[in-house]
Amino acid sequence: MSRADLDKQPHDVARMFDGVADRYDLTNAVLSLGRDRTWRAATVRALDLAPGALVLDLAAGTGTSSRALAAPGALVVACDFSLGMLRVGRRRDVGGGPDTGVVGGTGRGRVGGRGQVSFVAGDGTRLPFADGSFDAATISFGLRNVADPEVALRELARVTRSGGRLVVCEFSRPVLTPLRVVYLEYLMRVLPELARRVSSNPEAYVYLAESIRAWPDQQRLGRLIRSAGWGDVAYRNLTGGIVALHRAVRR
Ligand SMILES: C[S@@+](CC[C@H](N)C(=O)[O-])C[C@H]1O[C@@H](n2cnc3c(N)ncnc32)[C@H](O)[C@@H]1O
Repeated sequence: MSRADLDKQPHDVARMFDGVADRYDLTNAVLSLGRDRTWRAATVRALDLAPGALVLDLAAGTGTSSRALAAPGALVVACDFSLGMLRVGRRRDVGGGPDTGVVGGTGRGRVGGRGQVSFVAGDGTRLPFADGSFDAATISFGLRNVADPEVALRELARVTRSGGRLVVCEFSRPVLTPLRVVYLEYLMRVLPELARRVSSNPEAYVYLAESIRAWPDQQRLGRLIRSAGWGDVAYRNLTGGIVALHRAVRR
């Protein structure tokens, strides 16, 4: 089984996620000790989407982040370059049926609420959408995995209409020192051990720990988002800063 390195070569990243796709959501729930649901709910609230709004969920993986967005009635385009992750998401939505709809095009599925999720294969650094196509854009636990996050943020700005909102949900830096110390210990020692029991590719979760440690803190990410063409950038910490939600508006 393979893992990506911190240079995040797109081919390696896509292959790594292909390899963990089947057990991705279960592993997430276990490793986050169930907190992932709260983080997703906070992302949905921060986007504050009107029913029928068209939103891009970049690096959507199996579509778990997308389904949370669609539940209140948004139309969500779930875009990712790991066909393995998209296939698992698509299979879930069509109840185990054929999964061919996703490759090179879209596969559409209704979700529990009124909204809809369409799966699209695409690279976040070269999005296959016209300028200003979306009312809002979001990326959950994806930006850290993109080789050039600034390019992806610029692409997100390009495809979002003027006045549209961006929400980035990503691991960040715990604010208080005691939590930071315990969390680092968890990341570097406990998480890889847990992953060995739950994941099909434990090495991918060593990459996860390393990539979180190397990721910019709240302020630096805020500056990166601003320099990529977004205005009104602000953030709030979740779970003491283990995760941060950055919000911005398309100028
Ligand atoms: C940790 S998963 C997040 C999935 C989902 N958003 C969630 O919240 O569970 C990260 C995803 O980012 C995707 N990814 C990384 N770089 C990408 C890029 N340049 N373009 C599209 N997807 C990318 C990976 O394929 C993977 O599915």
